[in-house]
Amino acid sequence: MSLLAVYPGSFDPFTKGHLDLATRAAATFGQLTIVVVHNPNKTAMLTVEQRAESIKEAFGELPKNICVDVLVDGLLAEYCQNIGASAIVKGLRSASDFEYELPMANVNRDLTGIETVFLPAAGEFAHISSSLVKQVYELGGDVAAYLPDAVLKTMSEVNPR
Ligand code: PNS
Repeated sequence: MSLLAVYPGSFDPFTKGHLDLATRAAATFGQLTIVVVHNPNKTAMLTVEQRAESIKEAFGELPKNICVDVLVDGLLAEYCQNIGASAIVKGLRSASDFEYELPMANVNRDLTGIETVFLPAAGEFAHISSSLVKQVYELGGDVAAYLPDAVLKTMSEVNPR
């Protein structure tokens, strides 16, 4: 049975860890919508449109069972309800990720009944975060190991060093 899951995040930028998680989530659920969400609590380097475009490019050819969308306003739980999603999927790298994610998972279920399913980050990507990659990039460090080529290209075009 194929289910639709939503993989939301700021994805500023979308890392190799996100790419791995999205690929595994799509294989697990059948259908996946990756949603780039505007998070007003974070200072963004890329616009949500730039992020969405670079995510599509990161796959090379976007698999037929994966869509990329943006959410600039409104509740994620309602977005999921509107598109008929069965679950939100999130990656967990550590216990601190779980502490950050658990309240959101419970609030989202309170709002519409949507469940959140956690997938463990693969060990090789467990130390990668968008915020760390962004900081290293802005300070002139090499982040090529952490990003799909297309995302690195977008970053260097939008924010050349
Ligand atoms: O990658 P992030 O910034 O940690 O992702 C957090 C995000 C964007 C998934 C979360 O802030 C979110 O769901 N925002 C949408 C607005 C919303 O529904 N807020 C209530 C969440 S319980």
